[in-house]
Amino acid sequence: MKLGCCYYPEHWPEEWWAEDARRMREMGLSLVRIGEFAWSRIEPEPGHYDWGWLDRAIDTLHAAGLKVILGTPTATPPKWLVDRMPDMVAIDEKGRPRGFGSRRHYCFSHEGYRTECRRIVTALAERYGRNRAIAMWQTDNEYGCHDTVLSFSAAAASAFRGWLAARYDTVDALNAAWGNVFWSMEYRSFAEVDPPHLTVTEANPAHWLDYRRFASDQVASFNREQVDIIRRLSPGVDITHNFMGFFTEFDHHAVGRDIDVATWDSYPLGFLEQFWFSSEEKRAYLRQGHPDIAAFHHDLYRGCSNGRCGVMEQQPGPVNWARFNPAPLPGMVALWTLEACAHGAELTSYFRWRQAPFAQEQMHAGLLRPDSSEAEAADEVRQAAAVLGGIGPQACATAPVALVFSYEAAWVIGIQPQGQSFRYLELVFETYSALRARGLDVDIVPPEADLTGYRMVLVPTLPIVPEGFAERLAALECPVLLGPRSGSKTASFAIPDCLAPGALRSLTGVTVTRVESLRDGVAESAEGFAVTRWREDLVGDFAPELVDDAGRAVVSYKDGVRYCAAWPDRALLAVLVERMAGEAGVALLDCPEGIRVRRTQAHIFTFNYAAKGVFVPHLGRTLSPAAWDIAPRPAPV
Ligand code: GAL
Repeated sequence: MKLGCCYYPEHWPEEWWAEDARRMREMGLSLVRIGEFAWSRIEPEPGHYDWGWLDRAIDTLHAAGLKVILGTPTATPPKWLVDRMPDMVAIDEKGRPRGFGSRRHYCFSHEGYRTECRRIVTALAERYGRNRAIAMWQTDNEYGCHDTVLSFSAAAASAFRGWLAARYDTVDALNAAWGNVFWSMEYRSFAEVDPPHLTVTEANPAHWLDYRRFASDQVASFNREQVDIIRRLSPGVDITHNFMGFFTEFDHHAVGRDIDVATWDSYPLGFLEQFWFSSEEKRAYLRQGHPDIAAFHHDLYRGCSNGRCGVMEQQPGPVNWARFNPAPLPGMVALWTLEACAHGAELTSYFRWRQAPFAQEQMHAGLLRPDSSEAEAADEVRQAAAVLGGIGPQACATAPVALVFSYEAAWVIGIQPQGQSFRYLELVFETYSALRARGLDVDIVPPEADLTGYRMVLVPTLPIVPEGFAERLAALECPVLLGPRSGSKTASFAIPDCLAPGALRSLTGVTVTRVESLRDGVAESAEGFAVTRWREDLVGDFAPELVDDAGRAVVSYKDGVRYCAAWPDRALLAVLVERMAGEAGVALLDCPEGIRVRRTQAHIFTFNYAAKGVFVPHLGRTLSPAAWDIAPRPAPV
């Protein structure tokens, strides 16, 4: 795994560049990402390119022995461009334009803006496409950041109508699919259909789902336009996009198919603070991040791009954007780096080289302070580089467990939560965490993935079951777990004729006759676990494997396939993991709180995410906070 950093030559005097590059090399870095926000310097006046500074920056970095990851600058259209086409900005759900003065102020559907993007990407790729300094291209920056996937502009409305016409052919088909007879919502033509915002009460969930699918397709096609240009002008050079954490607003599997390496931006402390974790977890992992946050995303994004993944932005210190921004525990930056390597990352690049003393991110740490002195992480980067050099290249091992992840499932649950604590990402993450707590390596895969060869398959929920999925599960010989709400919707967001779990009925033997959601704090007891948040009533031809104290089935079992009819709490997940692994003959480890392991083909990595020393039974010793152990992996018997 290579190390790198995110660098903004346009932020610093040119006289500093060579010394910066020298210090990057000295720190153990070999990659440097530049350019992704530099449109106003690349094209200061419409049609007048200023390549001189970028040529010199690339040459200087390359001369020092660094390879460049060059970003296309389309996340930051300059002022003159917005003034020339004011309707290119995205419109938010409340109908307000997203103004100039930060970034990502564009609408994915605006044809004029797309033309401008093709022009600037072509110019950039013509200039640097065959430059030997360029190791990789990054398209745009963090699609969707700052809530920018959905736009409700005139351009988006018009593109949506075209998308609907292509999907449904006739407006009658659309009316029937959505159930528009309800509340007299029928349309006479596609031209009458608007985006689903600004309605008096909720819009039709089928309308929302199609809007989300459409918006996701717009992101993918926007990205593909850039990819096509770069492939033509820079043949053989890898293309990436930097995805975000805990973000499901577009289908990353679709974008991942068009690029070579799925990278992501890893801010474990910011994510812990901003997402659903309990106050106890936020306290316990304040300076380390929850032990599964980074691992989850490595495994998810590895599954988005044919096994090739990396970290484009690694938090090196306090960030500026969470509600509270603590500093990492000494050692964590090195630990996060090695965790990435253990999950198959090809690169880890720190954000950013030097903290900026000006503008929006002046409170965001870098590897250097604004005065160019070394910040705390610098030595940890050297340390990580030395460890990586010592263990040599790591090949990813196939995991025994597949966890099925679906962006469409996230949209369905988000559109119709039915109980406010039913959160798709949390359900998947908790399932992942239960597996990781028993030392299992996990591949997070799309529903279309080939599942043969896995020894356990878990589907936390999949409301819309893709064509052929049930048959593929039926053909597996390994234990399978399907979570609540699986098969509960048709592709057009209706309840299946035969009731849930629809296409999974014969596989599971169950029919769901009623669902209910439970307010926070309600816990109905069962032996060894509790039912919280969500539960379903089941009838059918199955053996109830686990029941609650009132005798209602919580988990059904039929021929190796389990259906879980409730939100699974941690205790229930632990039981299910143990039973499935037992049936599959997969060995488990007991990872004490804060301890995680991960295997590559040649090594087993053990990490301590706890803020205190922890005795690790499989090592027979105590690991200090933020410490790791890397041991050769015993050869299979
Ligand atoms: C990312 C973004 C970077 C920078 C960073 C700060 O979301 O891609 O440009 O803003 O966050 O943590």
